Amino acid sequence: MEITLSLVKPDGVRKNFIGDVMKRFEQNGLKIVGLKMLHLTKKQAEGFYAVHKERPFFHDLTAFMCSGPIVAMAIKGENAIKKVREIMGATDPGKADKGTIRRDFGNGIEENVVHGSDSKESAQFELPYFFDALSLNG
Ligand code: RTP
Ligand code: MG
Repeated sequence: MEITLSLVKPDGVRKNFIGDVMKRFEQNGLKIVGLKMLHLTKKQAEGFYAVHKERPFFHDLTAFMCSGPIVAMAIKGENAIKKVREIMGATDPGKADKGTIRRDFGNGIEENVVHGSDSKESAQFELPYFFDALSLNG
């Protein structure tokens, strides 16, 4: 069993895709064991995406991530990290497979609706950013 972190990004919340995103995860056998809506500050968004701090898109990405509320989910299941990434689809919705969240609900490389931890290491860093161990259920 693995636990991973996923976020419904501000565009997904603005467009009322919270339920659709959670449904995709649940329908694929994953369990939501932590759930929280919050509005990041710029500093918090920069801390969360610190791995990208040298990238040219860092400022735009972190500004976008604090442009409105997000929904954080802790998601549990067998191979949850890889499964969540598959259900999300490729970073660019235009290149994502049919039937993925980003292809179906995304609007571009920035407005791509969801985030998901991309490795065990990133899940270990990202989960405590939003949840403490005691707040996870099941
Ligand atoms: P995420 O971290 O949000 O789950 O997305 P990801 O793993 O699929 O992609 P990543 O390489 O980690 O990039 C993080 C987010 O930065 C934005 N991005 N913009 N303009 C660009 O070339 C560019 N590349 C990435 C995307 O919004 C991506 O989700
Ligand atoms: Mg990433």
